[in-house]
Amino acid sequence: MRPHETLADELARARDRTLHLVDFDDEEVRRQYDPLMSPLVWDLAHIGQQEEFWLLRGGDANRPGLLTPQVDSLYDAFVHSRAARVDLPLLPPTEARAYCATVRGKVLDMLDTLPDDHPELFTVGMVISHENQHDETMLAALNLRAGAPLLDCGAALPAGRPEVAGTSVPVPGGPFVLGVDGASEPFSLDNERPAHVVDVPSFRIGRVPVTNGEWRQFVDDGGYRQRRWWSEDGWAHRQAAGLTAPLFWNLDGGCAGSRTRFGHVEDIPDDEPVQHVTFFEAEAYAAWAGARLPTEIEWEKACAWDPATGSRRRFPWGATPPTSRLANLDGQARRPAPVGAYPDGASAYGAEQMLGDVWEWTTSRLRPWPGFSPMVYERYSQPFFEGETTGDYRVLRGGSWAVSADILRPSFRNWDHPIRRQIFSGVRLAWDSHV
Ligand code: AVJ
Ligand code: FE
Repeated sequence: MRPHETLADELARARDRTLHLVDFDDEEVRRQYDPLMSPLVWDLAHIGQQEEFWLLRGGDANRPGLLTPQVDSLYDAFVHSRAARVDLPLLPPTEARAYCATVRGKVLDMLDTLPDDHPELFTVGMVISHENQHDETMLAALNLRAGAPLLDCGAALPAGRPEVAGTSVPVPGGPFVLGVDGASEPFSLDNERPAHVVDVPSFRIGRVPVTNGEWRQFVDDGGYRQRRWWSEDGWAHRQAAGLTAPLFWNLDGGCAGSRTRFGHVEDIPDDEPVQHVTFFEAEAYAAWAGARLPTEIEWEKACAWDPATGSRRRFPWGATPPTSRLANLDGQARRPAPVGAYPDGASAYGAEQMLGDVWEWTTSRLRPWPGFSPMVYERYSQPFFEGETTGDYRVLRGGSWAVSADILRPSFRNWDHPIRRQIFSGVRLAWDSHV
C-alpha cells in the first residue's frame, strides 16, 4: 500500500477514536473532571488546531488559518495550563467538531497532492501521533470522572498465565543499538533518534509487569507507612499527598477492597498489572521487593534487541505489526490484560507485555540521545529535557492499553512528573546481575 493510503487510514482511525470520546452532550464535553486534566472539548479543538497548524499553516503562526488569532491562541498548551482551560471562552462542542472536520477535509486534499517521499508525509505521521496521544489523555480524564459510568467495562481480553507473575529473565551484558533512524522508522519522533551503540552491563528484568496481587502484599506489609523503602522526595510526596494505595483503589470497606474504573466499581484483579501509581510509589515498591526500576536504556534493550542476529526487532516479537494476539493496545479493553496473556508477544529475551497494558516507569530523566536534532514541532521534546526550565520528568516506556498500535514502537518515549498517577502507569522491576 502507498504510504498515503496508510496515513489516510491512520488519520481516519484516530478521528474515529477522538469522536467516540466526545460523543456526549455539550455540558458533559465542557466539564472539567479534575484540575489535572483539560475539559474534553479543549482536547478536541486542540487536536484540530494542531493539525491545521502543522499541515495547513506550515507551522507558521503568522500564516492565517480558519480561527481568529484570539481563538487560535486558546489552544496553545504552553500558554494555558490544564487547570485554567475550563475558564477560557472555548469553541462550543458543535463548533469544535465542525472545525476539526473542515481541517481534516483540507488535509486529505493536501495529502493527495504530496509526492512519495515528501518530507510533509512525516509531519502527517506526527499529527497522527499527536491526535492519538490526546485520545489517551482524554481517556485518563474520563477515568477521573465521578458518577455513573459513561463508558462500558471494555472489550474482552485473553486469559493470563498467573504463574509468570514475579518471575524475571536475564539480559546478558554487551552493546546494542539504542534508538532508531528515519531510514528504518520514518515516523519515529525526534527524541527516539538517532540510533547509536550503547554498552549495557548484565541485568535481569521482570518477565511481566508487577501485578495488583503483588502490590497488595506491599500495602499489607505496611509499605506505604515505612520510610525506609522511599526516597527522600518520594517520602515527602507520600506524606503530603497521603498516599496509601494506588489511585482508584478503595480499601476502606474491608480487607479485599475494590477499585473504580471509568465509574465501574469492581474487584481488584490480582493477576492484572498494577496501574495508577506514581514514580515514587514504583521506586518504593521496587526497594521493598529487593529490586529496582530499570533505566530506559535497559528497558529498550530487553524490548527490542535480538542477540542472535545482533540487530533490533521492529517489535519485541519480530517484524509483524501488533495484533490483538500479540499486545493489548488501541484503548478498547480499557484495562491492562492479566500477566502472561501474550506469550507470543515475548521479546528475544523472553520479556512479555513490553508493549501495551501499562506504561512502565523507568529511573531515567528525559534527555536527548547524542546527536539529537528537533523535528518540525521543535517544542515537542526539547522543553522537557533535563536542565531545561520546565521541571522534573521521568521516562515511561512501552505504552499502555490506551495507546494506538499505529504510533507505538519499542523506541517510543513518554514522560511525566514523578508524582503523577492519573496516567495508565505501572511497574516492571529490574535487578543487577553478574551473568
Ligand atoms: C509525550 C504524552 C508527554 O501529552 O504532554 C501532546 C504529548 N505533546 N501534545 C503530552 C503531547 C503535545 C505529551 N506526552
Ligand atoms: Fe497537544
